[in-house]
Amino acid sequence: DWNMPDYISEAVESIRQQVGSDEVILGLSGGVDSSVAAALIHRAIGDQLTCVFVDHGLLRLDEGKMVMDMFSKNLGVKVIHVDATAQFMGHLAGVTDPEAKRKIIGREFVEVFQVESAKLKNAKWLAQGTIYPDVIESAGKGKKGSHTIKSHHNVGGLPDTLNLKLLEPLRELFKDEVRKLGVALGLPHSMVYRHPFPGPGLGVRILGEVKKEFADLLRRADAIFIEELRNTQTEPAPGSNEKAMSWYDATSQAFAVFLPVKSVGVMGDGRTYEYVVALRAVQTQDFMTAHWAHLPHSLLGKVSNRIINEVRGINRVVYDISGKPPATIEWE
Ligand code: XMP
Repeated sequence: DWNMPDYISEAVESIRQQVGSDEVILGLSGGVDSSVAAALIHRAIGDQLTCVFVDHGLLRLDEGKMVMDMFSKNLGVKVIHVDATAQFMGHLAGVTDPEAKRKIIGREFVEVFQVESAKLKNAKWLAQGTIYPDVIESAGKGKKGSHTIKSHHNVGGLPDTLNLKLLEPLRELFKDEVRKLGVALGLPHSMVYRHPFPGPGLGVRILGEVKKEFADLLRRADAIFIEELRNTQTEPAPGSNEKAMSWYDATSQAFAVFLPVKSVGVMGDGRTYEYVVALRAVQTQDFMTAHWAHLPHSLLGKVSNRIINEVRGINRVVYDISGKPPATIEWE
């Protein structure tokens, strides 16, 4: 257990030693790891750091604005915001297979990042938010019995063809240490303690073909679900020593999934024929196995009413009660 201010000054010193007066590029995703890496490196070298934030159009509601506000406005970090929605949507058009979608999103991400980083001619370093468990995991790749259930994509997976040296200041840290470091560097608690979000984003939460129209509906439904989870407290049994906390903190991951299926409904005195949203909330230690969360019916009811009333285009909400295994956490 180390002392945070000491840890920060040591880390800052070692980053300065490593990069000297060179320029550094970092792919900022808005996730915890790349955000903490960015904040730490910025603390060390200020404007020698440029972040590239690729918006694939598959982010959560207002995420782009949140990332830009936090880094660019509040922390004064140089961030290039690339809105690549049209490019991603174009390549995803007509594609329904989950693995094919994942590969396209991963490939386009690298493509956009390479184009942007090539513009930063003086950059010598590529910074990544690699953390200790990632180091262990990639060391274990290719061992017997390993096979791909889903091809994972995240900002850490950039190719060597960029010809940059790697700067990975979080390589020795576990997730909980990364979070503490983030808070100590001034990142908001709500950001640092966020649920994980997959690299392919809403691309794996819109079943089948990804369309911007679907992403827009899903973003709004998902934001309502998350808001209600944040605003509803758990009620530990009387006499138990559990503490009350928000349902957001009581779950490991929660999100909405867009089902491209229409069903009949009634609204006012009219008939509707609209899409379905599924809610998923799980509790897990390691994300390898997970239980579906026993959310209170009152909370589920409120989320369902709000989504159906506020998101025109959705007229039915269902709750996913599948464990992992056999279901995975994401639907694709
Ligand atoms: P599954 O769906 O396999 O997910 O039960 C386990 C955890 O991994 C996350 N996940 C991803 N994270 N890139 C990521 O960075 C990905 O491609 C990806 N796919 C799944 C998922 O959200 C859950 O936390």
